[in-house]
Amino acid sequence: LDQALVICRLLHFAAAFLLFGMSTFFWIVAPSDVARRLEKQLGPVIFLSLFIMGFTAIGLLLLTAGAMGEGWRDALNLSVLQDVLLDTEFGKVWQFRFISICLLIAVMALPGHHLWRNMTVAAALALGTLGFVGHAAIEGGIAGFGHELNHAVHLLSAGFWFGALVPVALLLGDGSRNNLNSTSQTALDRFSGAGHFAVAMVLATGAINTWLIVGGWPNNPRSPYQTLLRAKIILVGAMIGLAVINRYLLVPLTRRGSWPVKLLLLNTIGEISLGSVVIVLVSYFAMLEPE
Ligand code: HEM
Repeated sequence: LDQALVICRLLHFAAAFLLFGMSTFFWIVAPSDVARRLEKQLGPVIFLSLFIMGFTAIGLLLLTAGAMGEGWRDALNLSVLQDVLLDTEFGKVWQFRFISICLLIAVMALPGHHLWRNMTVAAALALGTLGFVGHAAIEGGIAGFGHELNHAVHLLSAGFWFGALVPVALLLGDGSRNNLNSTSQTALDRFSGAGHFAVAMVLATGAINTWLIVGGWPNNPRSPYQTLLRAKIILVGAMIGLAVINRYLLVPLTRRGSWPVKLLLLNTIGEISLGSVVIVLVSYFAMLEPE
């Protein structure tokens, strides 16, 4: 059951990050012709992410019911499921999350003029509400609510950073073959600007999360939670190193030909790979005892 929970959490986080990051990129960052070009290429990824998010949301409810009850038998026991959904804090958050996932499906099924704005809002609800379960939701009262809000902002800023890197990589892939045109360059400049803000928010909320959960720097070598949290911080440090090289060394050179664009593409793929390992780690260790 524990392994299934980790896999389900991993797929759920990845899908929620991709949906929120790509929608925000298309709504706020990309000029309209870049958005039109990339959204066609990314359509299947968006559909797949939505499917995975809905499917794993149901999976996580069943597996959590099993974990709260007596294993696999209770994961499929209707009365246990009903109790978890109606009578626990997790269940109340999950009801709201099912509504936001249905909203996402409705927005995609009935695309209007403001498709990406509406997708961003629905995806933000579906991702941000994940901040209201898990370790952040253990304390009650005002302090507990503050922790939950901080965690929601952590997930939204990490989701924007990670999810938007995928259309950015596609843009750079095109640019490395045909040179970046001026609207692609604008998208890249705007992403660099928004990226600064997202990274700053991830760092600040990640530090607050660590302080609230562990009470300081995670330096207990006998705690698997703290050891994996330290590994996560090192990986995020490497992601930030690549982002700084991209922003301050390579982006200013992209008007000089295709080689800086190729290097940017390589670094961006590196950032996506490191971010994926971070999501794998957190899907596992955030289920352990922090001590
Ligand atoms: C140095 C920067 C960061 C620090 C110090 C940090 C720290 C934390 C902490 C302490 C938690 C709470 C885990 C728990 O509930 O037990 C957390 C949750 C999380 N972080 Fe970060 N984080 C950082 C950056 C990132 C980045 C860059 C990503 C994504 C690429 C990310 C993805 C996540 C996810 C998905 C969760 C949710 C875990 C859950 O709800 O179960 N974090 N982070």
